Amino acid sequence: MKKYGIGVINGDGTGPEVVVESVKVLDAVSKKYGFELDYDYLDFDGNRYLKTGVVLTDEDIERVKSKDSVLLGAIGHPDVKPGILEKGILLRLRFTLDQYINLRPVKLYEGVETPLKDKGPEDIDFVVVRENTEGLYTGSGGFLKKDTPEEIAIQESINTRKGVERCLRFAFEYAQKRNKKKMVTLCGKTNVLTYAFDLWERTFYEIAKEYPDVKTDYAHVDATCMWMVKNPEYFDVIVTDNMFGDIITDLGAVIQGGMGIAAGGNINPEGVSMFEPIGGSAPKYTGKNVINPLACIAAGQMMLEQLGEDKAAEDVEKAIMKAVKNDIKSMSAGKMGYGTSEVGDLIVKYLK
Ligand code: IPM
Ligand code: MN
Repeated sequence: MKKYGIGVINGDGTGPEVVVESVKVLDAVSKKYGFELDYDYLDFDGNRYLKTGVVLTDEDIERVKSKDSVLLGAIGHPDVKPGILEKGILLRLRFTLDQYINLRPVKLYEGVETPLKDKGPEDIDFVVVRENTEGLYTGSGGFLKKDTPEEIAIQESINTRKGVERCLRFAFEYAQKRNKKKMVTLCGKTNVLTYAFDLWERTFYEIAKEYPDVKTDYAHVDATCMWMVKNPEYFDVIVTDNMFGDIITDLGAVIQGGMGIAAGGNINPEGVSMFEPIGGSAPKYTGKNVINPLACIAAGQMMLEQLGEDKAAEDVEKAIMKAVKNDIKSMSAGKMGYGTSEVGDLIVKYLK
């Protein structure tokens, strides 16, 4: 039997609760298709940090490197200063595992409410390919004259030819594989960020020549936000840098029904990838059995795809679609009409 080693990071807040449901679904679907998932639970979280002062060690990273994939619940603890865990765990893993793509599908399913007036599932179906290891996220910069009235703070956006190129290439290949509109929209700010997005733009049109069947398109990031609300049906694949990708994918999550259903993958096509719900640890809902586990279940679905278990992934998506169409009333915590664990059970039921 085929066996995959899966690192599982429950994380903080509602992370453990949603991971349990995702694992429940993964177990059911792996049984159906005859492969095995061997879970290794990794306690990279706020509680360990509060107890030991350890955020993430080199040994932790080595352990993750030996896995076929990683499933993550949520990072962010109310008693830990913002930034420590996010940068020390989530971003450190993305960077050291060189997960250079953050893939975030924006797809509205039938039965899920979108805040966009007169828009339905036929209008909202695109993906954002967010560069995941560079840009403003590298931590490059610093302070001068800190804590004085002349203080200067510098935060630099790092964009390398290699990093930009591999991200763009992934986007073009993804558009081919998706086989829908076959259009890649570069989302940038070439009118102001005339160095960073000059590199992106030049590389974009150069790489595009290798994919003659894929249309090229460009939109500034502010206009992208406008179109995502006004005409989401226009998009197929949007490719962008780390910061813009972070921002527009929260907007994307909202138009697809909210954080309760939005999932993403931190992907290293040649290495270890990590899949997660886009939403945070939602501390106020912790332990109440009210958080929506669908985003984490959808993250599991993306993980199956990355592992090459396409049929299993498809089944999970179909089960999610049935449950949101027939049963689940709202994507919001506490308003689903079901508890967290019942939602997991529903998906398992529809897998059969
Ligand atoms: C995300 C999150 C992270 C990011 C934070 C928690 C560091 O917002 O995954 O989008 O900015 O990438
Ligand atoms: Mn974000």
